[in-house]
Order: sequence, then C-alpha cells, then structure tokens
Amino acid sequence: MTATVFEGIGLLYTGDPLREEIRDAALVVQDGKVIWVGHTAQAPEADERIDVGGRCMIPGFVDSHSHLIFAGDRSAEFDARMAGRPYTAGGIRTTVAATRAASDAELAVNAGGLIAEMHAQGTTTVEIKSGYGLSVESERRSLEIATALTDETTYLGAHVVPEGVSTDDYVHLVTGEMLRECAPFAKWVDVFCERGAFDGDQTKEILTAGIKAGLGARVHAGQLGTGPGVQIACELDAASADHCTYLTDADVAALAGSQTVATLLPGAEFSTRSPYPDARRLIDAGATVAIATDCNPGSSFTSSMPFCVALAVREMRMTPLEAIRAATYGGARALRRDDIGVIRPGAQADLVLLDAPSYVHLAYRPGVPLVKAVWSDGIPVF
Ligand code: NIG
Ligand code: FE
Repeated sequence: MTATVFEGIGLLYTGDPLREEIRDAALVVQDGKVIWVGHTAQAPEADERIDVGGRCMIPGFVDSHSHLIFAGDRSAEFDARMAGRPYTAGGIRTTVAATRAASDAELAVNAGGLIAEMHAQGTTTVEIKSGYGLSVESERRSLEIATALTDETTYLGAHVVPEGVSTDDYVHLVTGEMLRECAPFAKWVDVFCERGAFDGDQTKEILTAGIKAGLGARVHAGQLGTGPGVQIACELDAASADHCTYLTDADVAALAGSQTVATLLPGAEFSTRSPYPDARRLIDAGATVAIATDCNPGSSFTSSMPFCVALAVREMRMTPLEAIRAATYGGARALRRDDIGVIRPGAQADLVLLDAPSYVHLAYRPGVPLVKAVWSDGIPVF
C-alpha cells in the first residue's frame, strides 16, 4: 500500500491523447498502478518521494511484435545480405531446425536474455510469437515457454510451410490439431500472408479458425510486396496489420477506416536493406500507427525500441512525437490494451526515466543508452 511520488519530471510524455505532455510534472504510484498525475507543485503527500532531477519520463515501450522463442544464429545470412543477396522468407526454416533441436531450457534462457535486453532499453510489454516450431508439439511448447514471459502470446503456426509437408495438409493441421493444442497458451493468432508463405484464402481460413477458438487476430502483411493481408486484417477486425511496407491506396484507406493498427517494423527494413514503410502516408490518412522491433534472428535481430524510434524518425518521416506515440500508445492499441502505453490514473505503473530532458533525444542521440531506470507494474526492472 506504499505510495511513491515521482517528482521533478522535467517533461512527462503521458501517451494519453487527452493530455499528452506535462512539464514540471509529478506522478504517484501505488500497488503497481499510477494513481495521480499532475504538476510537481501540486503533488500530494506520499510515503516515499523520488526526485528525478528534471529528466524526461515516458510510459514503458509496448513492443507489440516479436519472435523471441528460437535457437540458433543467422549472422551469416545477414552478412550475405549485406553483400547483396536478397532477403527471402526461406531463412525461417534454418531457425526452425535449430529451434526444434533446442531444449525447453535453452529456449527459455535465450528468450529471457532478450527480455532483459528489452527492459534495459525501456520495454515493459512484449508480444511474443511462436512460429519457429511448425509442428504440433514444437509450436505448443514455444507458446508454453512464452506464457511464462508475457501475457501477450501469439500462435504463429502459419509462419511458413515446413519442409516435406504439402501446403494443404499444413493448413489443415494449423487450423485443426495444432490450433487445439496451442490455443490454451495463446491470446492471438497470426499468419505470415506473403508470397512464399500463405496466400489470401489460406490466411483467411487460418485467422477465422483462430478467432473461432477465441483468439484475437493479427497479420504479417505487405512485408515483401503488396498482397491481400491488409484487407483481410481490416475485414476480420484484426488488432494489427504488421510490416505494411508495401501498401496500395486501398490498403491505406482500409486501415484508416478501421480499428486495425498499422504496425511498422523498421528494424526489418534496416536488416534486410529494404525500402522503409511510408509512415507519413498512413498518419496523414488517419490510420493508427505502432512501431515494434520484430525481434527475430532472421530479418530484425534488434531488441531496441529506441533504435526503432530513431529509424522511424530518420527513415520513415515521422516526427519524434509521432514516433514515441507509436512506440507506446500505438503499441497498446495494437494489443487492444488501455492499461499500458499511457501514464494516467488507473494505468499500470510502467515507467521509463530517460537520462535526457526530452524524448526527442531518443532520435536526436541515436545509439546512445539514454534509458536510466525502468519500472514495470511499479517494480524496478532496470
Ligand atoms: O516478421 N515475416 C515473417 N517473419 C519474420 C521473419 C522471420 C525470419 O526471417 O526468421 C518477420 O520479419
Ligand atoms: Fe514478424
């Protein structure tokens, strides 16, 4: 029941659209929740006071797209790409072989290490997908390991079709036995809707089966080229269409006219040396935009939301304010959560203290470790 007041916050970015920035701010945390937000001069009495010395505070980043359950290393593939080889979805199968061969403990330790990296960079909520198992047992155990690490787990049995299985048989498995085994450990269902992975009809079939099993939908759409993924996502009221690197005008209009968030993953464009998504086009059309890391060993092996914010500003024509909003409030919308990604009474006390006077420094000082302290549910995690 101890109440703690954080005071002397030079700039508080709240992520709350109703009151997005407060200067000379303070906030009170009790029982893991924010219970008061305002100016330092009006801060109420509390059991404990922490003066943050004029620094900037922001909500914990919401990383709404990651693939943390894997084993193995694909740095040679990255090296080859940087020498000119194109990225294809095929590399996923390399990680599948390594993941299948790994023990539960190895997978858990690897994912836990990545989460520690994320905490150190200000992330307090992470969505974790399966998708490197591609067999009933291996997908189920990936999700079981993920549930120990986050509430936001996603069944991505439909990542690619594994070697030696026909696509029809695999879709049958993903919508049948594999779904039944995985659904108890998953909150979401996702499909990699892309040439070389799953087409529009298969995507719809898999998402619909997942929705029937009680899961929320999200879609990998438009990463390598335009396709039906965004329209399907909007039609099925998916929480998010992710990547959105290649969009038609109709896709942009569908996103703007729906509750489906466009989640942009600039780490993937960085690591595959691809053109970045046009965030300006989406924001100007009225779509809600999120930024996430897509942390995975193939196309985006970064755990850093600050790095993605910097890329979004420099390469995707977002302002620093739009980028920080996308990394907090936007991520929360992509997970359909009202209690994270914002600092307002009732929200989880997920707080990041920057060793900087403003969140602008996240893009202005790229690559510099500006995260000074992190609280998740009011508990220090970094
Ligand atoms: O989001 N696009 C599909 N899945 C991952 C890539 C995974 C991999 O290459 O291993 C992504 O970029
Ligand atoms: Fe992904």
